[in-house]
Amino acid sequence: MLPRAAIGGSAPRDKPSGGGCALTVNDVLTVHGGTPLHGRIRVRGAKNLVSKAMVAALLGDAPSRLYDVPRIRDVEVVRGLLELHGVRVTDGTEDGELVFDPANVESATTDEINVHAGSSRIPILLCGPLLHRLGHAFIPDLGGCHIGPRPIDFHIQALRQFGAVVDKGPDGMHLTAPTGLHGTKLELPYPSVGATEQVLLTAVMAEGVTELRNAAVEPEIIDLICVLQKMGAIIKVHTDRVIEIQGVPRLGGYTHRPIPDRIEAASWAAAALATGGDIEVLGAEQVDMMTFLNVFRSVGGAYEVTDMRPPRNGSPGQEGKIRFWHPGDELKAVALETDVHPGFMTDWQQPLVVALTQARGLSIVHETVYEQRLGYTQALNSMGATIQVYRDCLGGTPCRFGRRDFKHSAVIAGPSKLHAADLVIPDLRAGFSHLIAALAAEGTSRVYGVDLIDRGYEDFEAKLAALGAHAERA
Ligand code: EPU
Repeated sequence: MLPRAAIGGSAPRDKPSGGGCALTVNDVLTVHGGTPLHGRIRVRGAKNLVSKAMVAALLGDAPSRLYDVPRIRDVEVVRGLLELHGVRVTDGTEDGELVFDPANVESATTDEINVHAGSSRIPILLCGPLLHRLGHAFIPDLGGCHIGPRPIDFHIQALRQFGAVVDKGPDGMHLTAPTGLHGTKLELPYPSVGATEQVLLTAVMAEGVTELRNAAVEPEIIDLICVLQKMGAIIKVHTDRVIEIQGVPRLGGYTHRPIPDRIEAASWAAAALATGGDIEVLGAEQVDMMTFLNVFRSVGGAYEVTDMRPPRNGSPGQEGKIRFWHPGDELKAVALETDVHPGFMTDWQQPLVVALTQARGLSIVHETVYEQRLGYTQALNSMGATIQVYRDCLGGTPCRFGRRDFKHSAVIAGPSKLHAADLVIPDLRAGFSHLIAALAAEGTSRVYGVDLIDRGYEDFEAKLAALGAHAERA
């Protein structure tokens, strides 16, 4: 059955189209809300590091080993692309361990590669590694979440500066490097995560030195630098967002345990707050979540950090974790701006806004990373929330989007009693916020398009069950 109202996205289609955030008619979750979530779940390696570390394995001339890889769709897509290019990918002995053997890297046909068209944004990061290994690359049309235009101009400009010839065709992007790839000086117009990764993955084996200014320095990027360093790369991270890379002629393999997924951890924290619950997130680490924790506490949430302790002198070790809970007092309105690291992550915004609908007063959210990442608030309004979106920059600092007339600021008036609705998931993070809203609302909601959540949240249905949520397919 189709939703009574296609709220927060277009009506379901019977097969995916237009990217990793497409809908199918059968992926419906019926959620009986109003029960606080209680219990314990675990987060694994960060989606936004794991997929990049997998791409890095292509650069080595020896096998690489990655632990704690979550079973999510983005990982499957990158695995498929690596295998198409001759990388042997096998499961290791530990749950979540993958081994990549790049001994026989080979070309794939455009038809084979196009099977992955529209499924993820990661393929763009294969440019540098494939140029180094094969001298040419074909990149299919990208996918990823529909959260604005998501241009790739910084990537193309950087690749051209390294010496790549980039031809954009109707089927995708063809690249060659007739005179090889050479170190260069670059300055990004904005500290883009993907473009910084593009530069790193290309510069490590380019001839000479690359200097990147205005680089992104998210923890996932620093972790990617650790991966590349283990492979033999020489990368210096200077102050003021400057990264210097000394190209080397060959790289080996790596063995790496990624940083935990701080977006997933914050999503469960927001779920605890919005439903009046108490969730222990095993694997979550304080250091990469400091900005989130400050906001969580300002809203009135409580948390307790337990540091990881390695086994020592015969005593067993202890896994790190953070317990997040609603202490029972009224939640407080806050003003926040999303920003690049160390600011408040744009991906933390959507789950937290659901909790802000329960806070007394007017909360203000200024989204400064993506121009169209507040569309999902319509769905929350259909459930009883009072959220107005504005074109003005309602934060302390004017951002790129104020001048360009995008609705990128929100005012959330609370507290609002949420009631059940039929919802259509528009993208990954907004999708999780829809799910939280359905869990917090009184009554039975139907959430369409939940398969999108599999892109970035491992086993989310099993985790919901472990937390006492009442939800079932269809
Ligand atoms: N931008 C350009 N031109 C470019 C590249 C980026 O104008 O060539 C702009 C974007 O339009 C955006 C801003 O720069 O306004 C930041 O984009 P960025 O390149 O940093 O984002 P990304 O690399 O495409 C990654 C994550 C996103 C996360 C952002 C910001 C992955 C696979 N994706 O995207 O995560 O929101 O960084 O931290 O790492 C998610 O996990 O759901 C997700 C969307």
